[in-house]
Amino acid sequence: MIVVAIDGPSGVGKSTAARGLALRLEVPHVDTGAFYRAATLAVLRAGVDPTDGRASAEVARHAAIGLRAGRALLDGEDVEDAIRGPEVTASVSAVAAHPEVRAALLERQRAGVRAHGGVVEGRDAGTVVVPDAHLKVWLTAAPAERARRRAGQLGRTAAGELERLTAELAARDDADAVQMARARDAVVIATDDLEAEEVLDRLEAMARSAREASGPSEEAER
Ligand code: DC
Repeated sequence: MIVVAIDGPSGVGKSTAARGLALRLEVPHVDTGAFYRAATLAVLRAGVDPTDGRASAEVARHAAIGLRAGRALLDGEDVEDAIRGPEVTASVSAVAAHPEVRAALLERQRAGVRAHGGVVEGRDAGTVVVPDAHLKVWLTAAPAERARRRAGQLGRTAAGELERLTAELAARDDADAVQMARARDAVVIATDDLEAEEVLDRLEAMARSAREASGPSEEAER
């Protein structure tokens, strides 16, 4: 059994790395951001103000949120596409900033790795969700590189887009600053000059040696 925490800001290649590593290790991938996005969709659908912590948490507590085969579910509905859309993206930082909302989702995020281990991706995976992970990784990249990648993903290639995306990412960093926490024992990887496969190769090697180091005695205890 292995638990890996991968954290870092938007646009550093976290999702690609976490999804790919989970595939290579044959363990679940728990995208904690997807939980906040699904909760935000539920909040918006309920007509609740995303800046109202108590009301948002009430919605989050009662919503059935989960992941199946890499897709987010809300009350049994596949909402993977909806949670990546602009409405949810515009409100998710506000919803995720409420401690009551975070408390409402935490155990469901943890449940994803309880049975078989897994790769947990987010902002506070290594500090809050799975602080006893065998391996913690913090991914970084320069703002210009993050913007360049995001532009590629979104197909936003018009003049001035890079500047706009750099500003958007900086605003998101500010909005997420409270919950963004690097564990002291996290390995920092700057992904600027690395291809996705190279990041994955490093992560896989580190995860496999962390699993070996955790040894059979721990395996027996779990
Ligand atoms: O990784 P992402 O862009 O899908 O995350 C969506 C939002 O959720 C982002 O604004 C930060 C927030 N988030 C968080 O507060 N804590 C996490 N563990 C993961 C995401």
